[in-house]
Amino acid sequence: MNHNLLLLLFFFFFFVLLFNAAFSDYLSPDSCKPQTCGGLQNITYPFWVEQSQPSYCGVPNFKLSCTDDKAVLNVSGDAYYVQKIFYNNRSVLLSNTQFFNGSDCAPRHNLTFSPPFRLNPSNTYIHLFEGCGSSLTGSLGLTPICSGVIAVPYDYHGSFNYTKLVGECNYSVVAPVWSLDNEEGIHDYLQILKDGFLLNWNTSTCIDECLQRGGRCGYDTATNNAVCLCEDRVHFKKCKARSVSSGNIVLPIFLLLLDLQLSYIINWSYFW
Ligand SMILES: *[C@@H]1O[C@H](CO)[C@@H](O)[C@H](O)[C@H]1NC(C)=O
Ligand SMILES: *[C@@H]1O[C@H](CO)[C@@H](O)[C@H](O)[C@H]1NC(C)=O
Ligand SMILES: *[C@@H]1O[C@H](CO)[C@@H](O)[C@H](O)[C@H]1NC(C)=O
Ligand SMILES: *[C@@H]1O[C@H](CO)[C@@H](O)[C@H](O)[C@H]1NC(C)=O
Ligand SMILES: *[C@@H]1O[C@H](CO)[C@@H](O)[C@H](O)[C@H]1NC(C)=O
Ligand SMILES: *[C@@H]1O[C@H](CO)[C@@H](O)[C@H](O)[C@H]1NC(C)=O
Ligand SMILES: *[C@@H]1O[C@H](CO)[C@@H](O)[C@H](O)[C@H]1NC(C)=O
Ligand SMILES: *[C@@H]1O[C@H](CO)[C@@H](O)[C@H](O)[C@H]1NC(C)=O
Repeated sequence: MNHNLLLLLFFFFFFVLLFNAAFSDYLSPDSCKPQTCGGLQNITYPFWVEQSQPSYCGVPNFKLSCTDDKAVLNVSGDAYYVQKIFYNNRSVLLSNTQFFNGSDCAPRHNLTFSPPFRLNPSNTYIHLFEGCGSSLTGSLGLTPICSGVIAVPYDYHGSFNYTKLVGECNYSVVAPVWSLDNEEGIHDYLQILKDGFLLNWNTSTCIDECLQRGGRCGYDTATNNAVCLCEDRVHFKKCKARSVSSGNIVLPIFLLLLDLQLSYIINWSYFW
């Protein structure tokens, strides 16, 4: 047998093993297992947890950071507590963190949402008037939700002197809320604002078959697509069904390693 060929094979094997060891760790589906973050359970794609997961587990805009008892999501520069995630219809119940701030309880600008996020049309709105004088709030019979901030449901403009309110408060912002009624049916507007609103999202989806075949969903930022992280490697949609091979063990293993090797290199451009 040709010695040079043997040597070449040896080095190739060595290199392949080394390379695979480094990359299989990086692409591990295990690291994208469902997470718990600030009391929120079973967090999966497109969401991912900054503190405990690599970024390829989810979409960049869906990064959650965990505090003691809340998961925080940034949307268009504002911070929101995540109350609940509805994976089935791709919506999330969020509350702006400013409403939990005590004496400074309202954001000073209108909240905006850019793709992949979009306000759910079933939300309603509360108009917040800020920097209002205390004499005004008394004369209109409106109780501030915190110092100088008056909350009025968007549709109630007819029931009080709106002109006066606009004139005597420094500015106003509009905040979405999911429902104007909380459990008790009492119009505690600060609580209603804390209860949050629904935001829809639209991103590249990961198909159920990825999970059914033992994979985990992940995201490829190079192509902006969901991918399926499998034990063997990253697949476009789903893992390979397990197949049984027989016969000579060395050649199949070699070919498998070669295939793995190549797939790691070409995988991210989906030429396979
Ligand atoms: C999280 O997932 C586990 C296992 O699938 C399930 O038993 C549990 O009820 C889920 N918890 C929530 C809050 O959805
Ligand atoms: C959200 O944005 C704020 C400021 O813009 C930043 O300090 C914070 O780290 C961000 N949080 C996440 C989870 O990206
Ligand atoms: C999603 O489903 C939940 C209940 O499963 C529902 O309360 C919510 O309104 C739905 N969201 C959308 C956008 O339909
Ligand atoms: C309250 O809001 C102010 C101003 O936005 C901010 O500086 C402060 O850190 C917030 N405090 C808490 C406890 O969130
Ligand atoms: C609102 O305006 C008044 C006077 O016009 C001013 O004293 C106050 O600081 C302003 N409040 C805010 C929050 O800008
Ligand atoms: C509402 O307030 C404005 C400004 O204070 C005043 O001019 C107007 O007469 C008021 N309208 C009513 C119906 O009270
Ligand atoms: C928020 O939006 C409302 C209605 O779109 C507008 O009247 C108000 O001036 C805006 N507030 C700020 C602070 O930009
Ligand atoms: C979701 O995004 C895709 C691709 O960007 C787009 O074609 C589709 O219309 C969007 N769907 C919704 C409901 O926004």
